[in-house]
Amino acid sequence: MNAHNIQFHDLHPTRNEFLDDVLAGLSRQPASIPPKYFYDERGSKLFDLITRLPEYYPTRTETAILKANAQDIATHVGTGSLLVEPGGGSCEKVHILLEGLRPCVYVPMDISRDHLRLAAEELAIEYPWLEIHAACTDFTRHMSLPAALPEGKHVAFFPGSSIGNFDPGDAVEFLRAIAGLVGRGGYLLIGVDLKKDKAILEAAYDDSAGVTARFNLNLLVHINRELGADFVLDNWSHKALYDEQRGRIEMHLVSTTEQTVNVAGQTFRFAAGESIHTENSYKYSADEFIQLAEQAGFISDKVWLDANHLFSVQLFTVKS
Ligand SMILES: C[S@@+](CC[C@H](N)C(=O)[O-])C[C@H]1O[C@@H](n2cnc3c(N)ncnc32)[C@H](O)[C@@H]1O
Repeated sequence: MNAHNIQFHDLHPTRNEFLDDVLAGLSRQPASIPPKYFYDERGSKLFDLITRLPEYYPTRTETAILKANAQDIATHVGTGSLLVEPGGGSCEKVHILLEGLRPCVYVPMDISRDHLRLAAEELAIEYPWLEIHAACTDFTRHMSLPAALPEGKHVAFFPGSSIGNFDPGDAVEFLRAIAGLVGRGGYLLIGVDLKKDKAILEAAYDDSAGVTARFNLNLLVHINRELGADFVLDNWSHKALYDEQRGRIEMHLVSTTEQTVNVAGQTFRFAAGESIHTENSYKYSADEFIQLAEQAGFISDKVWLDANHLFSVQLFTVKS
């Protein structure tokens, strides 16, 4: 592929950053590893499979909301903006917006380098009029745009309820960074998963085909490959539970036996039943999320919901 309308910026986290995060996380009590490390090439492919599972309502619900309201979104946001998508992944949902928004530049950012590169290249061929600057970056460390982009109103698109992966305090900080990125008069269009029945939530994160389990366990495969660790996959099992009080799904990898694991010369002991906490996914009511975004300097413009109130797509502007 040799589309002329794409540039790739590579700020992929270094092996040392990955190692430091894993060693620090495994030293914690209870152990935890940031969910960004799910996403190597295989992790991104497994996530794409998750989005098509019958139990995983968020993707199809959010997609339906975006399709039903694409015209309304375009009316609010207008055309000709610089559209930035942190965690763009396969860049699937942006297709719904591109014709209506007709951005002058699209900047997908993602930690999963090869997956992002391929998705952005495909998009560049499909939309030859669109200038694309794809940036492989860890958006929790670098929230900045590539240099020398055209002027224009900035719109951040953050779908998939990825905001739920942050604890609420960190979510405010992250949203504040987005507000800084889009600047005064800029927009944030964000997908936020809503609080709902525990059984629906737990099924979405523990599907009957076991794809989410493979996705969770792939974290250990990634660590073994990149950091030379010796996790034995058969000694770990996937667990997802909804903590109603905290309003969050927790994903864990549970040690099925007493064992030791070696990572870069350090040994970690795990008792049977002990777990590594691998992801949180916070759920909000639409109003709770508006309050959170207001703390970060946003004003709510509009909330779109599906008929069953499973998911919300929300539009904010930066307070002036
Ligand atoms: C839950 S998936 C959502 C994908 C897509 N936006 C969607 O709505 O379906 C999270 C995406 O964010 C990326 N990601 C996760 N943590 C990241 C980080 N710290 N920096 C950059 N990208 C990250 C992953 O590679 C993945 O593509």
